[in-house]
Amino acid sequence: MFRKAEPYRIKMVEPLRMISKEERISALKEAGYNPFALKAEDVYIDLLTDSGTGAMSDQQWSALMLGDESYAGSKSFYKVKDAVKDIFDYNYVIPTHQGRGAEQVLFPHLIKQKGQYVLGNMHFDTTMAWIELNGAVPVNLVIQEAFDTDKEHPFKGNIDLEQLERFIIDKGVENIAFINITVTCNSAGGQPVSMENVRGVKQIAVKYGIKINFDSARFAENAYFINQREAGYANKSIKEIVREMYAMGDFLTMSAKKDAIVNMGGLIAMKEDADLYADACASCVPMEGFVTYGGLSGRDMECLAVGLQEGLDVDYLESRIGQVEYLGEELRKRGISIQWPVGGHAVFVDAGKFLPHIPAEQFPAQALCNELYIESGVRPVEVGSLLLGRDPETGIQKKADVEFMRLAIPRRVYTDRHMDVVIDALAKIWERRDQIKGLEFTYEPKVLRHFLCRLKPIGE
Ligand code: F0G
Repeated sequence: MFRKAEPYRIKMVEPLRMISKEERISALKEAGYNPFALKAEDVYIDLLTDSGTGAMSDQQWSALMLGDESYAGSKSFYKVKDAVKDIFDYNYVIPTHQGRGAEQVLFPHLIKQKGQYVLGNMHFDTTMAWIELNGAVPVNLVIQEAFDTDKEHPFKGNIDLEQLERFIIDKGVENIAFINITVTCNSAGGQPVSMENVRGVKQIAVKYGIKINFDSARFAENAYFINQREAGYANKSIKEIVREMYAMGDFLTMSAKKDAIVNMGGLIAMKEDADLYADACASCVPMEGFVTYGGLSGRDMECLAVGLQEGLDVDYLESRIGQVEYLGEELRKRGISIQWPVGGHAVFVDAGKFLPHIPAEQFPAQALCNELYIESGVRPVEVGSLLLGRDPETGIQKKADVEFMRLAIPRRVYTDRHMDVVIDALAKIWERRDQIKGLEFTYEPKVLRHFLCRLKPIGE
């Protein structure tokens, strides 16, 4: 199939350096076999995250110079507010320093009493953390197809509507705090949610009087998948699709470091709930800063207002998701199982299938991440049992539904040649996969351990 080239050319470059294999082996050992502890300059191609790692456009860099640094009522804030109104048609906007800042400010006002449930497809880690810190219980109700990586399904981020309604009936509507739809569903592999599914969730939400929040980090990529895969949307613009979807929600939290292509930033917005806005404003001031900057500088907000619109450009989305698809398809051709079809921001390699001889408690996906770094200087991230952690009550290691190695692709940063390096390296590792060893802890922090833990290969 004909693939258009990137709809941009490169005006500024940042040098990359590949250190030798011996240096990579010793850097990884020093990092306690945890790629989070590597120095970025020792990484050749950094696929740790697509968050805050995108390349801003000439329009964004020039908007940066217009930043109004007024403490209150900054002109730059009103540009963000106008962009949110234009794209989502939500009336109230609060900037935050990043996505988790938005969750921190908003969630206490949505969770009315301890023990309530927050229902969603699959909550992201920080989202889950802020739900739990407010005394509520996060519940993931993504469809079963999400856990079968080889199974073809166009919208593996969908919520299981039957389970959703059953859960509400079983637990009682008074025990549900809100519904949180994550678009795209990062933890399931950047998988999209269909418009039809959101419509179904909305019907249930209206029936029981429950509010809907969109966790909106990758809202534009989700809309692109609807345009590509869902009947009736091929001729609708990305913005039309976003508007139709968000008309069914009540509020949004957003990490703007993804689809809004800024290096730092987040948002809270409400469609029409003025009381909730007032409550969130009161929390924002002590937590993030005054309500017209929320932890961002005026220049950050300028870049954000431009980036929100650029993220909707269909040529850009085609090229971006085309690159993720290219990487995924080439890996599949070499026999490597990935979450299929590919999601929007990353290829999720099924490390459980790659390394079936390594049990969950020896972290096969982390072992594969380390092997990829040693082979090629590429830094991926583990999204499996290491990230999941232990049952807080029993201390027993939980087992992830799928042991993923995530190859997250920064926006507008790498070319397909960089992807070829990843493909060649994984193909080589595939040939010697039975020699790869599992890992054990030498240091295990109690919370969010995957960021700071130290490991060593079993038997070394
Ligand atoms: N929601 C989703 C769906 C996310 O993917 C993230 C971050 C957040 C919320 C939190 O936003 O980082 O700006 O505070 N995901 C990043 C990742 C870190 O690598 O997937 P944040």
